[in-house]
Amino acid sequence: MKFYLKCTKCGERYDSDYAWPRCSKCGGLLEVTYEYESIELPSDFKTAFVKQWKYKPFMPIKRRPVTAGEGGTRLKKVASVPDVYLKIELDNPTKSFKDRGSTVEVTRALELGYQRLVVASTGNMALSVSAYSEIAGLETVTFVGSGANQNKIDMIRNKGGKIIQVEGDFNDALLEAEKFAKKTNSFLAGDYLYRKEGQKGVIFEVIDQLSYDPPDYVFVPVGNGTLISATYKGLYEYKLFGLIDKMPKLIGVQAKGADAFYRYYKTGKLKKVKVKTAADAIAVGLPTYSDQANEAVKATNGDVITVSEKEMAKAVKEIYKLAQVCSELGGAAAYAGLLKYDLPKDSKAVAFVTGGNI
Ligand code: F0G
Repeated sequence: MKFYLKCTKCGERYDSDYAWPRCSKCGGLLEVTYEYESIELPSDFKTAFVKQWKYKPFMPIKRRPVTAGEGGTRLKKVASVPDVYLKIELDNPTKSFKDRGSTVEVTRALELGYQRLVVASTGNMALSVSAYSEIAGLETVTFVGSGANQNKIDMIRNKGGKIIQVEGDFNDALLEAEKFAKKTNSFLAGDYLYRKEGQKGVIFEVIDQLSYDPPDYVFVPVGNGTLISATYKGLYEYKLFGLIDKMPKLIGVQAKGADAFYRYYKTGKLKKVKVKTAADAIAVGLPTYSDQANEAVKATNGDVITVSEKEMAKAVKEIYKLAQVCSELGGAAAYAGLLKYDLPKDSKAVAFVTGGNI
């Protein structure tokens, strides 16, 4: 597998070992760009056991990954008319889909020779990065906003991670993390190129678990927009390799109190919003991957919707009844969106249940 990095804004090309996630010319996000003809899938790919690292041919990693047994999460059928499935990402080692990105990021940090990772997070991502760093014997410094969830902060500390709480919100923490990583020559982890590659594992598994007969709709919660853009990239790659013949519509779901991406999709104007939601995981005022998330929705003829606090709370209860797992509010947002969406009776839909750190 061969790859290089490319700026999503100006197209500037970088060598695969270029270590900063942004373009040195325009500041745009870099993207892992594979030379797809160099990817070879094993002959038993379709039938091989479903796990995150089954998809190594589509990941920018050469060495043995730093793993905690992520992936292989349940796809649970919960209704028949229409066909509805929940992808239970709480089954991952630190109870969120973030582990799929962290296994790639921490492995890449080792490949590039780093000792320390720096990450800004609303909580789950930093908890996950800290856990994988601990396994690899690396250090993690986490930046959070002043309103970050205290339980999550405590859990990160328990993983041995250092916490820097900044005055301001998640986006302020993000700016500080980027500055700190540059100054201290640390690996900048978070919603950047390598995490995006790892997050493709969720949709790869869904397609495998549905025996390569893709759903009509996939409901994805949107905070920074990495998961939805990774979902689109994964589908694009499966289509390119002839593993699926159609794309599901991607439906992005945001909390009403943190709806910058929803507004961007509707108006074409990206503006930071002041967040007001108890769904702390997705309390992002200005999503990093807005453009890529927008492309994902538009390219699949999808949609973006918002859900209220009440609708998320109801979805948490429903998910508990249906799958006996305790989702957090943000983790239940996609299913809350599915519940209010007018799905055709003969359709098949999947909602990602993304986190359960409460
Ligand atoms: N669900 C959960 C449980 C999350 O923690 C997040 C993001 C999302 C959904 C949204 O995914 O950002 O890729 O669009 N959490 C980040 C964090 C912001 O720091 O843990 P996204």
